[in-house]
Amino acid sequence: MGELGVVDSFTVTFIVRRFNPETDSEPHWQDFDVEMYSTDRVLDGLHKIKWDQDGSLSFRRSCAHGICGSDAMRINGRNRLACKTLIKDLDISKPVYVEAIKGLPLEKDLIVDMEPFFAAYREVQPFLQTSAKPKKEHLQSVEQRERFDDTTKCILCAACTTSCPVFWTDGQYFGPAAIVAAHRFIFDSRDEEAQVRLDILNSKEGVWRCRTTFNCSEACPRGIEVTKAISEVKQAAIRGVRR
Ligand code: SF4
Ligand code: FES
Repeated sequence: MGELGVVDSFTVTFIVRRFNPETDSEPHWQDFDVEMYSTDRVLDGLHKIKWDQDGSLSFRRSCAHGICGSDAMRINGRNRLACKTLIKDLDISKPVYVEAIKGLPLEKDLIVDMEPFFAAYREVQPFLQTSAKPKKEHLQSVEQRERFDDTTKCILCAACTTSCPVFWTDGQYFGPAAIVAAHRFIFDSRDEEAQVRLDILNSKEGVWRCRTTFNCSEACPRGIEVTKAISEVKQAAIRGVRR
């Protein structure tokens, strides 16, 4: 902040990895100089490029407030949400590199095909399954609810899965986000199909592919302990579920 009520502004160089499937055989990097305020986020910079310099720049975003999970991208080599990455927290004496998340098919610029990611998510049956028919609420103690609280916070941004070296080399691996979704129901005291999900994740492309590199936990914009959730699912696959 400069003078009272005046927000500092400066020029930030963004270097964006571009790809147009209609004209390019390979992606390439393109520089943009953008006038930014210290209160801006990387998403604001991308908007300024799109609105003022090159309308063809393509990226996904919706809520702009860290809730919808649609703007995960690699910023200076790290998976982050563009809408939660403040310019003032980056070293703007150097250019800011922005590219699409890795390991999913590149469609255009910062947009990837999310279908393989959502296919793995669907496969773990991420919904409550119970034969109980309570007349009112389906009650749960505070402790039972806390058991899976962390994994309820997932916004399906794919930052974890696409930061995982196993996923980069083996696109068949379910990936951290699908295991987080399974964890959320496996440890829910109201659910009756934990074993079905554990059998799915006990398969060749399931939890045992995880090499505990912790990239996923570091990437998660919701602060979910992703690696811990994966190890809890591994333990449940061996010893059964302890809720
Ligand atoms: S666990 Fe975190 S990083 Fe992974 S999809 Fe969910 S919110 Fe995104
Ligand atoms: S735009 Fe919704 S999480 Fe960033």
